[in-house]
Amino acid sequence: MQNQADTRIERIRGLLPEIAQISDESLRSTVETIWERMWAESGWGDIADIPKNPSAPGAPQRVPDAWTLVTHTRAVAQLALTSAETVKTLHGIPYDHDALLAIALLHDVSKIVEYEGTREKIQKGHVGRLIQHGVYGAFMMWQHGLPTELVHGVIAHTPSSRGVPQTHEALIVRYVDFLDTDSMLLDAGEELYLK
Ligand SMILES: [Fe+2]
Repeated sequence: MQNQADTRIERIRGLLPEIAQISDESLRSTVETIWERMWAESGWGDIADIPKNPSAPGAPQRVPDAWTLVTHTRAVAQLALTSAETVKTLHGIPYDHDALLAIALLHDVSKIVEYEGTREKIQKGHVGRLIQHGVYGAFMMWQHGLPTELVHGVIAHTPSSRGVPQTHEALIVRYVDFLDTDSMLLDAGEELYLK
């Protein structure tokens, strides 16, 4: 019989097909494990139900589930890869494919424990109120032996952090995170993050 962790891993693989694009097997499996552990620590029955942020559910939806954490994570992973490819092709700046994908896929994983509630309404929980966004995900990455450069990418992806990206991969994730978020906010007629 499959245990709960295996069932969760299977669900994560189905929801986030971009994880399979990480070529290093150990990194791929660690990214899955971090999503699974974060989910196990939370009160969420299904991670597909987690909205991207508290204001998301009221926004108009052209695509079902457009405002979910999972969809946003997929968008950031795909945008990161295409942006890095463009910069590499036109400017000759190389990038680390697996590092970029891992940062993109884990940048908001801490939201699983930072927020609690239902698909219709979420609010910050204990961790979300007391700990800066992203830090718990970064802690778990370190705990699972991921390189400091990857941890840095998750810490530096948010304006909540005083540190700004120091690597090409971290820089790309920070910008495409804003791009995806503000595209949705502009479409919904809401205030942009960009000021
Ligand atoms: Fe994000």
